[in-house]
Amino acid sequence: MCGIVGYIGNKQAADIVVKGLKLLEYRGYDSAGVAVIDDSTVSINKRKGKVEDLLKMVDVSKIPGTLAMGHTRWATHGAPNDVNAHPHTDSTGNIALIHNGIIENYTVIKTELLNKGYTFKSETDSEVLAVFIGMIYEKVHDVEMAVRLALNEVEGTFGLVVISTHEPDKIIVARRGSPIVLGIGDGEYIVASDASAIVEYMKRVIYLNDDEMAILTREGYSTKTIKNETVNAEIHELELNIEQIRKGNFDHYMLKEIFEQPSTFKDSIRGRLLVEDGNVKLGGVGAVAEKLKNARRIIITACGTSWHSALVGEYMIEHLAQIPVEVEYASEFRYRNPVIYHDDVVIGISQSGETADTLAALREAKLKGATILGLVNVVGSTIARETDAGVYLHAGPEIGVASTKAFTSQLAVLSLLAMYLGRQRVLSMADGKTLATELAALPDKIQYILDRADQIKQISLAYTNATNFLYLGRGYNFPVALEGALKLKEISYIHAEGYPAAEMKHGPIALIDENMPVVFVATKDEIYDKVVSNLEEVRARGGRVIAIASEGDTNIARLAEHVIYIPNTLPQFTPVLAAIPMQLMAYYIAVQRGCDVDKPRNLAKSVTVE
Ligand code: M6R
Repeated sequence: MCGIVGYIGNKQAADIVVKGLKLLEYRGYDSAGVAVIDDSTVSINKRKGKVEDLLKMVDVSKIPGTLAMGHTRWATHGAPNDVNAHPHTDSTGNIALIHNGIIENYTVIKTELLNKGYTFKSETDSEVLAVFIGMIYEKVHDVEMAVRLALNEVEGTFGLVVISTHEPDKIIVARRGSPIVLGIGDGEYIVASDASAIVEYMKRVIYLNDDEMAILTREGYSTKTIKNETVNAEIHELELNIEQIRKGNFDHYMLKEIFEQPSTFKDSIRGRLLVEDGNVKLGGVGAVAEKLKNARRIIITACGTSWHSALVGEYMIEHLAQIPVEVEYASEFRYRNPVIYHDDVVIGISQSGETADTLAALREAKLKGATILGLVNVVGSTIARETDAGVYLHAGPEIGVASTKAFTSQLAVLSLLAMYLGRQRVLSMADGKTLATELAALPDKIQYILDRADQIKQISLAYTNATNFLYLGRGYNFPVALEGALKLKEISYIHAEGYPAAEMKHGPIALIDENMPVVFVATKDEIYDKVVSNLEEVRARGGRVIAIASEGDTNIARLAEHVIYIPNTLPQFTPVLAAIPMQLMAYYIAVQRGCDVDKPRNLAKSVTVE
């Protein structure tokens, strides 16, 4: 949450920073601001709203200076307005900072500062930190030391960039709990919340760890802990490429990412299927193969869409490997003293690899002796680095706030993991081969659905004015019903609920009337007849049924107002195919309603606060 970018070098800095902010805007878009140091003075421009709103106020290409930093905010403390926008300064205006995270003990520090006569302009915890650093600077006359001493008093999380007119050729960066990547150039550096703001200029990066700092000047950089111990940070080569973070000819990132799924799904399984052996190869879990073989239980923890894929994973692993699986909301798991055995394997699923709750849940599991695994998309992210082993999704950067391609890639990787665990235990080679063959066929089947996007659009447009939606499915199709409902509500603001189809009779059926669209995932599997009975129950009460059905099922057309056909596949894999029309429906409805689908209100892509 919150995007931060800083630049020091010999180029005009504000432009580079603002370009970076645009790429990081998916992390928060409540306000945007830039601070530039030129000729030993700092100028700050900041404004409520998106980066575009800031650019209406100031032409950043005209701001001179080769050192700058900028911020896009996802509000935690204080309303989204101009005053609460970052950067914030100390009481003298000479030290400025941008901050991602939450200073949990800010009220204590603020009270102390108020008692000493300091005043505040904003309601933010971040300004308290700025003023606190300024107060310490008055005593130590060294910006780095002031930052370090302040951070040693701070509780909570921070991704922090500090600049100062006292030392106008220096950027100080620090991290605890909020990601920071340093781009290493030739006499120039970029610091950012993630590598997308760096990749156009630099390929070599350092990922700061918690409680580490970096000091950047045009002459070089140093890394250390906030306790002032030297750190020899490892330099990584970025695999990201600039084309991956461009919108191309699509109107929205979300649409681009939906249409990328045939290739991203392929990338997730590429080189990992051993079709002839009915098995899979997962290099990332080789080191813990024995632990996986002996695991008594698997716990999967995640949030949001990743939690939905975890549910599909639970069904698959129990089915194919016969290992008991529990799925936990990360935010609940971490606070309830969960029972964890030493032979448990705890898997965190996260697109960003930075979700605070998922990370904390994994840390808790590790502390209690479990083997922890990460199924993560963003290479080099904190979860990827802190887990014992893991499997990357290889879906490429996902920029639309609503997760689409990461979801199907999570399903791809969970399928591989379930097969891997199954082959270690009870899954026969023949069954493994059937699964592997079908998995390899899915990208073409996804493409088949995308080729019919126009039909899905026409159906969707009939429901743009709905105020409520129900999504129902059973078995493997229950989690995807949850995901369909989440997609619709987060980008179109239409209230939607996902439910197990049979559970509807125990309450939600009371909601059914002629104004209630109900999306049924009713694919041909062993519980198809039961799902059709549930569908009849909705129809009998006047509900408007949209069925996502298996191709060739002519019976269903008789029962539903609209049918969206998807290709036949194995029951384990229907969530992959059923997700596609749901994503498209949510997208078309939201666009028709005039919603900002890539940046839905109140949301941010990477939830790095609790
Ligand atoms: O990066 P993560 O997968 O850990 O993110 C988890 C959720 O915040 C995320 O899936 C969220 O629910 C998406 N906006 C859903 O589209």
